[in-house]
Amino acid sequence: MAQSKRNRRNRSAGRKPKKVVTGEAEVEITELGDQGDGIALMDETRVFVAGALPGEILRIQRTGNRGEILRILQASPDRQAARCPHDSQCGGCTLQRLGPEGEARFKLDLLAKALARERLTAAITHPMFTVPERARRRASFALWQEGDGIAFGFQGRRSHDVVKLEECVVIRSEIMEAMPALSKALGPIVRRQKGLKLEVTCYPRGLDINLVGAKLDPLDLDIDEMNSLAATVAVSGVLRLSLEGVLYLEPRAPSLTFGGVNVAPPPGAFLQATEESEVAMQSRVLRALRARNVKGPVADLFCGCGTFTLPIAQYCEVVGFDAQEDQIDSLRTAVQRAAQNRVQVERRDLYRRPLVEQELNKFGAVVLDPPRAGAKDQIARLAASEVDLVIYVSCDHKTFSRDGRTLQEAGFELTELTPVDQFRYAAHLECVGIFERNRKA
Ligand SMILES: C[S@@+](CC[C@H](N)C(=O)[O-])C[C@H]1O[C@@H](n2cnc3c(N)ncnc32)[C@H](O)[C@@H]1O
Repeated sequence: MAQSKRNRRNRSAGRKPKKVVTGEAEVEITELGDQGDGIALMDETRVFVAGALPGEILRIQRTGNRGEILRILQASPDRQAARCPHDSQCGGCTLQRLGPEGEARFKLDLLAKALARERLTAAITHPMFTVPERARRRASFALWQEGDGIAFGFQGRRSHDVVKLEECVVIRSEIMEAMPALSKALGPIVRRQKGLKLEVTCYPRGLDINLVGAKLDPLDLDIDEMNSLAATVAVSGVLRLSLEGVLYLEPRAPSLTFGGVNVAPPPGAFLQATEESEVAMQSRVLRALRARNVKGPVADLFCGCGTFTLPIAQYCEVVGFDAQEDQIDSLRTAVQRAAQNRVQVERRDLYRRPLVEQELNKFGAVVLDPPRAGAKDQIARLAASEVDLVIYVSCDHKTFSRDGRTLQEAGFELTELTPVDQFRYAAHLECVGIFERNRKA
Protein backbone atom coordinates (compact mmCIF):
# COMPACT_ATOMS: atom_id res chain seq x y z
CA MET A 1 0.00 0.00 0.00
CA ALA A 2 2.74 2.43 1.05
CA GLN A 3 4.66 1.44 -2.09
CA SER A 4 1.75 2.05 -4.43
CA LYS A 5 1.00 5.41 -2.78
CA ARG A 6 4.64 6.46 -3.30
CA ASN A 7 4.53 5.34 -6.95
CA ARG A 8 1.36 7.27 -7.49
CA ARG A 9 2.96 10.36 -5.92
CA ASN A 10 6.04 10.01 -8.16
CA ARG A 11 3.95 9.57 -11.25
CA SER A 12 1.89 12.69 -10.52
CA ALA A 13 5.09 14.59 -9.59
CA GLY A 14 6.44 13.88 -13.10
CA ARG A 15 3.27 15.02 -14.82
CA LYS A 16 2.98 18.62 -15.94
CA PRO A 17 0.23 20.40 -13.98
CA LYS A 18 -2.74 20.98 -16.28
CA LYS A 19 -2.97 24.62 -17.30
CA VAL A 20 -6.23 26.24 -16.25
CA VAL A 21 -7.47 28.46 -19.06
CA THR A 22 -8.47 31.86 -17.73
CA GLY A 23 -9.48 35.13 -19.32
CA GLU A 24 -12.33 37.18 -20.71
CA ALA A 25 -14.29 35.94 -23.69
CA GLU A 26 -17.48 36.48 -25.63
CA VAL A 27 -19.61 33.34 -25.76
CA GLU A 28 -22.99 32.03 -26.82
CA ILE A 29 -24.95 29.81 -24.42
CA THR A 30 -26.27 26.75 -26.21
CA GLU A 31 -28.05 24.75 -23.50
CA LEU A 32 -28.59 24.29 -19.76
CA GLY A 33 -26.65 21.70 -17.75
CA ASP A 34 -28.25 19.35 -15.19
CA GLN A 35 -27.61 21.84 -12.36
CA GLY A 36 -29.20 24.73 -14.28
CA ASP A 37 -25.99 26.49 -15.38
CA GLY A 38 -25.77 27.76 -18.97
CA ILE A 39 -23.25 25.89 -21.16
CA ALA A 40 -20.94 27.54 -23.69
CA LEU A 41 -18.68 25.46 -25.91
CA MET A 42 -15.14 26.90 -25.92
CA ASP A 43 -12.26 25.04 -27.64
CA GLU A 44 -14.26 21.81 -27.32
CA THR A 45 -14.68 22.38 -23.56
CA ARG A 46 -18.09 22.76 -21.99
CA VAL A 47 -17.86 25.91 -19.86
CA PHE A 48 -20.59 26.23 -17.19
CA VAL A 49 -21.88 29.77 -16.62
CA ALA A 50 -24.10 30.30 -13.54
CA GLY A 51 -27.24 32.35 -14.22
CA ALA A 52 -26.88 32.18 -18.04
CA LEU A 53 -29.73 31.13 -20.33
CA PRO A 54 -29.76 29.38 -23.73
CA GLY A 55 -29.47 31.76 -26.68
CA GLU A 56 -27.71 34.49 -24.70
CA ILE A 57 -24.55 36.21 -25.87
CA LEU A 58 -22.35 37.07 -22.90
CA ARG A 59 -19.01 38.52 -21.97
CA ILE A 60 -17.63 36.13 -19.35
CA GLN A 61 -14.60 35.68 -17.14
CA ARG A 62 -13.51 32.10 -17.70
CA THR A 63 -11.60 30.00 -15.15
CA GLY A 64 -11.18 26.46 -16.46
CA ASN A 65 -14.62 25.04 -17.14
CA ARG A 66 -16.46 27.70 -15.11
CA GLY A 67 -17.50 31.12 -16.35
CA GLU A 68 -18.83 34.18 -14.59
CA ILE A 69 -21.06 36.69 -16.37
CA LEU A 70 -19.38 40.09 -16.77
CA ARG A 71 -21.91 41.58 -19.17
CA ILE A 72 -25.04 40.38 -20.93
CA LEU A 73 -24.64 41.43 -24.57
CA GLN A 74 -27.87 39.82 -25.76
CA ALA A 75 -30.39 38.60 -23.19
CA SER A 76 -32.78 35.70 -23.68
CA PRO A 77 -36.42 36.80 -24.01
CA ASP A 78 -37.09 34.24 -21.20
CA ARG A 79 -34.78 36.02 -18.72
CA GLN A 80 -36.63 37.10 -15.55
CA ALA A 81 -35.56 39.34 -12.72
CA ALA A 82 -34.12 37.34 -9.79
CA ARG A 83 -36.56 36.73 -6.97
CA CYS A 84 -34.07 37.59 -4.22
CA PRO A 85 -31.04 39.85 -3.75
CA HIS A 86 -28.68 36.90 -3.07
CA ASP A 87 -29.37 35.14 -6.36
CA SER A 88 -25.99 35.72 -7.98
CA GLN A 89 -23.95 34.33 -5.05
CA CYS A 90 -26.14 31.93 -3.05
CA GLY A 91 -25.79 28.26 -3.95
CA GLY A 92 -29.32 27.40 -2.78
CA CYS A 93 -31.18 28.57 -5.90
CA THR A 94 -29.82 28.16 -9.43
CA LEU A 95 -32.98 28.58 -11.48
CA GLN A 96 -34.46 31.94 -10.46
CA ARG A 97 -33.66 33.61 -13.81
CA LEU A 98 -35.77 31.08 -15.71
CA GLY A 99 -39.15 32.23 -14.41
CA PRO A 100 -41.89 29.77 -13.39
CA GLU A 101 -42.57 28.38 -16.88
CA GLY A 102 -38.90 28.05 -17.79
CA GLU A 103 -38.19 26.32 -14.47
CA ALA A 104 -41.04 23.84 -15.01
CA ARG A 105 -39.82 23.14 -18.58
CA PHE A 106 -36.25 22.60 -17.34
CA LYS A 107 -37.33 20.14 -14.63
CA LEU A 108 -39.70 18.17 -16.85
CA ASP A 109 -36.92 17.96 -19.41
CA LEU A 110 -34.50 16.57 -16.78
CA LEU A 111 -37.04 13.84 -15.99
CA ALA A 112 -37.83 13.09 -19.65
CA LYS A 113 -34.11 12.80 -20.48
CA ALA A 114 -33.47 10.43 -17.55
CA LEU A 115 -36.42 8.22 -18.59
CA ALA A 116 -35.23 8.18 -22.21
CA ARG A 117 -31.66 7.33 -21.18
CA GLU A 118 -32.98 4.18 -19.47
CA ARG A 119 -35.44 3.49 -22.33
CA LEU A 120 -38.25 3.59 -19.83
CA THR A 121 -41.52 3.89 -21.73
CA ALA A 122 -43.40 6.54 -19.83
CA ALA A 123 -45.54 9.57 -20.24
CA ILE A 124 -45.87 12.24 -17.60
CA THR A 125 -49.56 11.61 -16.91
CA HIS A 126 -50.29 14.30 -14.33
CA PRO A 127 -49.48 18.00 -14.30
CA MET A 128 -46.53 18.94 -12.12
CA PHE A 129 -47.44 19.88 -8.54
CA THR A 130 -45.45 22.99 -7.61
CA VAL A 131 -45.05 24.23 -4.06
CA PRO A 132 -45.38 27.96 -3.34
CA GLU A 133 -42.45 30.17 -2.34
CA ARG A 134 -41.50 30.29 1.37
CA ALA A 135 -42.77 26.73 1.95
CA ARG A 136 -39.52 24.80 2.64
CA ARG A 137 -39.63 23.66 6.25
CA ARG A 138 -36.07 22.38 6.70
CA ALA A 139 -32.88 24.40 6.29
CA SER A 140 -29.24 24.17 7.36
CA PHE A 141 -27.48 27.49 8.01
CA ALA A 142 -23.78 28.24 8.42
CA LEU A 143 -23.03 30.47 11.44
CA TRP A 144 -19.96 32.67 11.76
CA GLN A 145 -18.65 35.69 13.61
CA GLU A 146 -18.77 38.97 11.72
CA GLY A 147 -17.41 41.97 13.59
CA ASP A 148 -19.19 42.05 16.94
CA GLY A 149 -22.17 40.13 15.64
CA ILE A 150 -23.01 36.66 14.36
CA ALA A 151 -23.99 36.15 10.73
CA PHE A 152 -25.94 33.28 9.20
CA GLY A 153 -26.20 32.11 5.64
CA PHE A 154 -25.99 29.40 3.02
CA GLN A 155 -23.19 27.79 1.08
CA GLY A 156 -22.26 30.00 -1.87
CA ARG A 157 -22.06 29.00 -5.55
CA ARG A 158 -18.37 28.27 -5.03
CA SER A 159 -18.24 25.53 -2.47
CA HIS A 160 -16.08 27.24 0.20
CA ASP A 161 -17.87 30.60 0.24
CA VAL A 162 -20.75 31.30 2.56
CA VAL A 163 -23.33 33.93 1.68
CA LYS A 164 -24.86 36.05 4.40
CA LEU A 165 -28.63 35.95 4.13
CA GLU A 166 -31.01 38.78 4.68
CA GLU A 167 -33.98 37.15 3.07
CA CYS A 168 -34.88 33.92 1.36
CA VAL A 169 -37.79 33.21 -0.95
CA VAL A 170 -37.85 29.44 -0.45
CA ILE A 171 -37.58 28.97 3.34
CA ARG A 172 -40.62 29.33 5.60
CA SER A 173 -40.90 32.76 7.15
CA GLU A 174 -41.14 31.30 10.71
CA ILE A 175 -37.55 30.06 10.25
CA MET A 176 -36.19 33.24 8.64
CA GLU A 177 -37.81 35.42 11.34
CA ALA A 178 -36.22 33.39 14.17
CA MET A 179 -32.70 33.23 12.68
CA PRO A 180 -31.38 36.66 13.82
CA ALA A 181 -32.36 35.93 17.47
CA LEU A 182 -31.04 32.33 17.31
CA SER A 183 -27.68 33.43 15.85
CA LYS A 184 -27.36 36.13 18.49
CA ALA A 185 -28.19 33.69 21.31
CA LEU A 186 -25.53 31.25 20.03
CA GLY A 187 -22.88 34.01 19.94
CA PRO A 188 -20.65 32.68 22.79
CA ILE A 189 -20.42 29.25 21.11
CA VAL A 190 -19.96 30.57 17.55
CA ARG A 191 -17.15 32.87 18.73
CA ARG A 192 -15.30 29.89 20.19
CA GLN A 193 -15.86 27.38 17.39
CA LYS A 194 -15.57 27.66 13.63
CA GLY A 195 -17.65 25.80 11.04
CA LEU A 196 -20.90 25.56 13.01
CA LYS A 197 -24.18 24.78 11.31
CA LEU A 198 -27.69 25.22 12.63
CA GLU A 199 -30.29 22.83 11.22
CA VAL A 200 -33.81 24.15 11.64
CA THR A 201 -37.08 22.31 11.02
CA CYS A 202 -40.42 24.06 11.17
CA TYR A 203 -43.16 22.01 12.85
CA PRO A 204 -46.80 23.15 13.05
CA ARG A 205 -46.30 24.52 16.59
CA GLY A 206 -42.71 25.76 16.41
CA LEU A 207 -39.08 25.09 15.56
CA ASP A 208 -36.81 22.12 16.14
CA ILE A 209 -33.14 23.22 16.13
CA ASN A 210 -29.97 21.13 16.01
CA LEU A 211 -26.45 22.54 16.37
CA VAL A 212 -24.00 20.59 14.24
CA GLY A 213 -20.21 20.56 14.21
CA ALA A 214 -20.04 21.68 17.83
CA LYS A 215 -17.48 19.84 19.92
CA LEU A 216 -19.64 20.43 22.94
CA ASP A 217 -19.83 17.85 25.65
CA PRO A 218 -22.99 18.82 27.57
CA LEU A 219 -21.16 17.95 30.82
CA ASP A 220 -18.25 20.17 29.91
CA LEU A 221 -20.04 23.43 29.08
CA ASP A 222 -18.97 26.67 30.76
CA ILE A 223 -21.53 29.07 32.19
CA ASP A 224 -21.55 31.31 29.08
CA GLU A 225 -22.21 28.34 26.84
CA MET A 226 -24.98 26.98 29.06
CA ASN A 227 -26.58 30.43 29.13
CA SER A 228 -26.20 30.65 25.39
CA LEU A 229 -28.00 27.34 24.80
CA ALA A 230 -30.72 28.23 27.31
CA ALA A 231 -31.22 31.54 25.46
CA THR A 232 -31.89 29.71 22.16
CA VAL A 233 -34.88 27.87 23.60
CA ALA A 234 -36.20 31.18 24.94
CA VAL A 235 -36.38 32.44 21.35
CA SER A 236 -40.00 32.65 20.32
CA GLY A 237 -41.28 29.44 18.75
CA VAL A 238 -38.36 27.12 19.64
CA LEU A 239 -39.59 23.71 20.84
CA ARG A 240 -36.40 21.66 21.09
CA LEU A 241 -32.62 22.06 20.93
CA SER A 242 -30.24 19.20 20.13
CA LEU A 243 -26.44 19.06 19.90
CA GLU A 244 -25.26 16.84 17.04
CA GLY A 245 -28.68 15.17 17.02
CA VAL A 246 -28.61 14.46 20.77
CA LEU A 247 -31.46 16.03 22.71
CA TYR A 248 -30.31 18.88 24.99
CA LEU A 249 -33.41 20.92 25.91
CA GLU A 250 -37.02 20.30 25.00
CA PRO A 251 -39.54 22.77 26.38
CA ARG A 252 -42.20 21.10 24.18
CA ALA A 253 -41.89 18.06 21.93
CA PRO A 254 -42.29 18.90 18.21
CA SER A 255 -45.09 16.90 16.64
CA LEU A 256 -47.21 16.70 13.52
CA THR A 257 -50.05 14.62 12.15
CA PHE A 258 -49.97 11.92 9.48
CA GLY A 259 -53.28 10.28 8.54
CA GLY A 260 -54.94 11.69 11.65
CA VAL A 261 -52.32 10.25 14.03
CA ASN A 262 -50.07 12.53 16.08
CA VAL A 263 -46.35 11.67 15.69
CA ALA A 264 -43.41 13.16 17.63
CA PRO A 265 -40.36 12.68 15.35
CA PRO A 266 -36.87 12.49 16.94
CA PRO A 267 -34.21 15.21 16.43
CA GLY A 268 -32.99 15.24 12.82
CA ALA A 269 -35.88 13.08 11.57
CA PHE A 270 -36.63 13.03 7.87
CA LEU A 271 -39.62 15.12 6.79
CA GLN A 272 -40.62 15.90 3.21
CA ALA A 273 -39.34 19.35 2.18
CA THR A 274 -42.73 21.05 2.42
CA GLU A 275 -46.10 20.32 3.98
CA GLU A 276 -47.84 21.10 0.67
CA SER A 277 -45.86 18.50 -1.32
CA GLU A 278 -46.24 15.96 1.50
CA VAL A 279 -50.04 16.24 1.26
CA ALA A 280 -49.96 16.06 -2.55
CA MET A 281 -47.81 12.90 -2.50
CA GLN A 282 -49.85 11.22 0.25
CA SER A 283 -52.95 11.85 -1.82
CA ARG A 284 -51.37 10.36 -5.00
CA VAL A 285 -50.30 7.23 -3.10
CA LEU A 286 -53.71 6.72 -1.49
CA ARG A 287 -55.59 7.35 -4.71
CA ALA A 288 -53.48 4.77 -6.51
CA LEU A 289 -54.27 2.13 -3.86
CA ARG A 290 -57.99 2.95 -3.78
CA ALA A 291 -58.41 3.15 -7.55
CA ARG A 292 -56.99 -0.37 -7.90
CA ASN A 293 -58.98 -1.69 -4.97
CA VAL A 294 -55.79 -3.02 -3.41
CA LYS A 295 -56.29 -5.57 -0.67
CA GLY A 296 -53.82 -5.07 2.16
CA PRO A 297 -51.43 -5.46 3.68
CA VAL A 298 -49.26 -2.88 1.94
CA ALA A 299 -45.50 -2.65 2.57
CA ASP A 300 -44.17 0.90 3.05
CA LEU A 301 -40.41 0.66 2.50
CA PHE A 302 -38.15 3.49 3.76
CA CYS A 303 -41.14 4.70 5.79
CA GLY A 304 -39.38 7.29 8.04
CA CYS A 305 -41.79 8.42 10.76
CA GLY A 306 -44.87 7.30 8.81
CA THR A 307 -45.57 10.02 6.21
CA PHE A 308 -47.23 7.40 3.98
CA THR A 309 -47.68 4.53 6.50
CA LEU A 310 -50.30 6.30 8.61
CA PRO A 311 -52.46 7.65 5.74
CA ILE A 312 -52.35 4.14 4.17
CA ALA A 313 -53.57 2.71 7.50
CA GLN A 314 -56.78 4.72 7.06
CA TYR A 315 -57.45 2.47 4.09
CA CYS A 316 -55.89 -0.95 4.83
CA GLU A 317 -53.26 -2.81 6.87
CA VAL A 318 -49.68 -1.66 6.37
CA VAL A 319 -46.19 -2.63 7.51
CA GLY A 320 -43.56 0.14 7.63
CA PHE A 321 -39.81 -0.62 7.31
CA ASP A 322 -36.94 1.81 7.94
CA ALA A 323 -33.34 1.50 9.14
CA GLN A 324 -33.37 4.42 11.52
CA GLU A 325 -34.23 3.21 14.99
CA ASP A 326 -35.39 6.49 16.51
CA GLN A 327 -37.73 7.20 13.59
CA ILE A 328 -39.19 3.70 13.80
CA ASP A 329 -39.60 4.14 17.58
CA SER A 330 -41.50 7.41 17.13
CA LEU A 331 -43.82 5.76 14.61
CA ARG A 332 -44.33 2.75 16.89
CA THR A 333 -45.14 5.00 19.87
CA ALA A 334 -47.61 7.04 17.79
CA VAL A 335 -49.37 3.89 16.60
CA GLN A 336 -49.63 2.50 20.15
CA ARG A 337 -50.96 5.76 21.57
CA ALA A 338 -53.57 6.03 18.85
CA ALA A 339 -54.46 2.33 19.22
CA GLN A 340 -54.04 2.10 15.45
CA ASN A 341 -54.00 -1.66 15.02
CA ARG A 342 -53.63 -1.68 11.25
CA VAL A 343 -49.95 -0.69 11.43
CA GLN A 344 -46.91 -2.83 12.08
CA VAL A 345 -43.42 -1.42 12.16
CA GLU A 346 -40.06 -3.10 11.62
CA ARG A 347 -36.56 -1.74 11.83
CA ARG A 348 -34.65 -3.06 8.86
CA ASP A 349 -31.65 -2.03 6.78
CA LEU A 350 -33.12 -2.46 3.32
CA TYR A 351 -29.79 -1.92 1.57
CA ARG A 352 -28.10 -4.76 3.43
CA ARG A 353 -31.19 -6.90 3.81
CA PRO A 354 -33.86 -6.10 1.20
CA LEU A 355 -37.19 -7.86 1.58
CA VAL A 356 -36.94 -11.13 -0.38
CA GLU A 357 -39.57 -12.58 -2.71
CA GLN A 358 -41.17 -14.80 -0.08
CA GLU A 359 -41.67 -11.81 2.23
CA LEU A 360 -42.84 -9.50 -0.57
CA ASN A 361 -45.44 -11.96 -1.87
CA LYS A 362 -47.53 -11.41 1.28
CA PHE A 363 -48.27 -7.81 0.24
CA GLY A 364 -51.01 -6.53 -2.04
CA ALA A 365 -48.82 -3.57 -3.07
CA VAL A 366 -45.48 -1.99 -2.18
CA VAL A 367 -44.84 1.71 -1.63
CA LEU A 368 -41.21 2.81 -1.50
CA ASP A 369 -39.51 6.15 -0.95
CA PRO A 370 -35.75 5.54 -0.78
CA PRO A 371 -32.91 8.07 -0.37
CA ARG A 372 -31.31 9.60 -3.51
CA ALA A 373 -29.30 6.44 -4.18
CA GLY A 374 -32.52 4.62 -5.07
CA ALA A 375 -33.13 0.97 -4.17
CA LYS A 376 -31.34 -1.18 -6.75
CA ASP A 377 -31.28 -4.47 -4.82
CA GLN A 378 -34.74 -4.07 -3.32
CA ILE A 379 -36.15 -3.33 -6.77
CA ALA A 380 -34.48 -6.46 -8.17
CA ARG A 381 -36.26 -8.48 -5.46
CA LEU A 382 -39.56 -6.77 -6.28
CA ALA A 383 -39.05 -7.53 -9.96
CA ALA A 384 -38.60 -11.23 -9.11
CA SER A 385 -41.59 -11.30 -6.72
CA GLU A 386 -45.31 -11.75 -7.33
CA VAL A 387 -46.14 -8.16 -6.36
CA ASP A 388 -48.05 -6.46 -9.21
CA LEU A 389 -48.27 -2.87 -7.94
CA VAL A 390 -45.30 -0.73 -6.93
CA ILE A 391 -45.70 2.94 -5.99
CA TYR A 392 -42.31 4.58 -6.18
CA VAL A 393 -41.79 8.02 -4.57
CA SER A 394 -38.40 9.36 -5.59
CA CYS A 395 -36.26 12.44 -5.06
CA ASP A 396 -33.82 11.51 -7.83
CA HIS A 397 -34.93 11.24 -11.44
CA LYS A 398 -31.80 9.26 -12.43
CA THR A 399 -32.07 6.43 -9.88
CA PHE A 400 -35.86 6.41 -10.33
CA SER A 401 -35.36 5.78 -14.06
CA ARG A 402 -32.64 3.16 -13.45
CA ASP A 403 -34.85 1.24 -10.98
CA GLY A 404 -37.92 1.72 -13.20
CA ARG A 405 -36.10 0.06 -16.06
CA THR A 406 -35.52 -3.04 -13.90
CA LEU A 407 -39.26 -3.16 -13.18
CA GLN A 408 -40.08 -2.65 -16.87
CA GLU A 409 -37.84 -5.55 -17.84
CA ALA A 410 -39.82 -7.71 -15.39
CA GLY A 411 -43.14 -6.85 -17.09
CA PHE A 412 -44.18 -3.70 -15.20
CA GLU A 413 -45.53 -0.61 -16.96
CA LEU A 414 -45.16 2.89 -15.60
CA THR A 415 -48.85 3.77 -15.88
CA GLU A 416 -48.87 7.05 -13.93
CA LEU A 417 -46.15 9.58 -13.35
CA THR A 418 -46.59 12.77 -11.34
CA PRO A 419 -43.70 15.26 -11.05
CA VAL A 420 -43.62 17.13 -7.75
CA ASP A 421 -41.60 20.33 -7.64
CA GLN A 422 -40.88 20.63 -3.93
CA PHE A 423 -37.45 22.24 -4.34
CA ARG A 424 -38.29 25.60 -5.93
CA TYR A 425 -35.42 27.22 -7.89
CA ALA A 426 -33.10 24.24 -7.28
CA ALA A 427 -32.29 21.60 -9.90
CA HIS A 428 -34.03 18.77 -8.03
CA LEU A 429 -37.30 17.09 -8.78
CA GLU A 430 -39.42 14.66 -6.79
CA CYS A 431 -41.82 12.30 -8.56
CA VAL A 432 -44.40 9.62 -7.81
CA GLY A 433 -44.53 6.71 -10.26
CA ILE A 434 -47.12 3.94 -10.34
CA PHE A 435 -45.75 0.70 -11.80
CA GLU A 436 -48.26 -2.02 -12.65
CA ARG A 437 -47.33 -5.51 -13.81
CA ASN A 438 -48.94 -6.52 -17.03
CA ARG A 439 -49.20 -10.29 -16.67
CA LYS A 440 -50.82 -10.77 -20.09
CA ALA A 441 -47.91 -9.27 -22.03
C1 LIG B 1 -36.55 9.93 1.42
S1 LIG B 1 -36.71 9.41 3.08
C2 LIG B 1 -38.40 8.92 3.08
C3 LIG B 1 -39.02 8.77 4.43
C4 LIG B 1 -40.57 8.69 4.44
N1 LIG B 1 -41.09 7.84 3.42
C5 LIG B 1 -41.19 10.06 4.33
O1 LIG B 1 -41.79 10.38 3.31
O2 LIG B 1 -41.07 10.83 5.30
C6 LIG B 1 -35.78 7.96 3.08
C7 LIG B 1 -35.84 7.13 4.31
O3 LIG B 1 -34.97 6.02 4.10
C8 LIG B 1 -34.42 5.63 5.33
N2 LIG B 1 -33.22 4.83 5.04
C9 LIG B 1 -31.99 5.26 4.66
N3 LIG B 1 -31.17 4.21 4.46
C10 LIG B 1 -31.91 3.09 4.71
C11 LIG B 1 -31.63 1.71 4.67
N4 LIG B 1 -30.41 1.27 4.37
N5 LIG B 1 -32.61 0.84 4.98
C12 LIG B 1 -33.84 1.28 5.32
N6 LIG B 1 -34.16 2.59 5.39
C13 LIG B 1 -33.21 3.48 5.09
C14 LIG B 1 -34.16 6.93 6.05
O4 LIG B 1 -34.12 6.71 7.46
C15 LIG B 1 -35.37 7.76 5.61
O5 LIG B 1 -36.40 7.66 6.56
